[in-house]
Amino acid sequence: MAGNKTLTIIKPFAVKNGKLGAILHKIEESGYRFAAIKTLKLEKHEAEEFYAEHQGKPFFDDLTDFMSSGPITAAILTKENAVEDFRYLIGATDPSEAQEGTIRKMFATSKTRNAIHGSDSDESADRECDFFFSRRERLKTDI
Ligand code: PPS
Repeated sequence: MAGNKTLTIIKPFAVKNGKLGAILHKIEESGYRFAAIKTLKLEKHEAEEFYAEHQGKPFFDDLTDFMSSGPITAAILTKENAVEDFRYLIGATDPSEAQEGTIRKMFATSKTRNAIHGSDSDESADRECDFFFSRRERLKTDI
């Protein structure tokens, strides 16, 4: 059975350019609820740890440079079938390929500055939620 939580990150360029509120509003009006949320800045080595599965890919250095370049907002979102539905809501990695109405179509400016992250599986969601949040920081202890 699909899990009911996913991890999102509003990426640096979107936070810096004042798009945070609009993106959070879009998420909430799409049926997600916030179980935890924080704004922080990653160190380069922390970005490398978060994206470790992509180590060795051509974009790894650009991605981890970018993700450690400024404040981000990380959140645990809850909803039925959260991972799959949220990937649909955010749209394609490359905003030029993203469908109308998706968050990346609305707010991303390039493949690197693509505004938002969403977990790609329930296993990733578990790992990523644990990466950013302690148990005490979550609204419900069963997620
Ligand atoms: S892959 O190879 O299919 O697994 O990669 P993909 O799922 O498309 O992307 C994995 C994460 O890397 C980001 N990405 C990039 N960042 C910078 N530059 C380029 N060219 C680039 N291509 C992919 C992509 O946004 C994914 O990060 P998240 O945070 O999950 O969006």
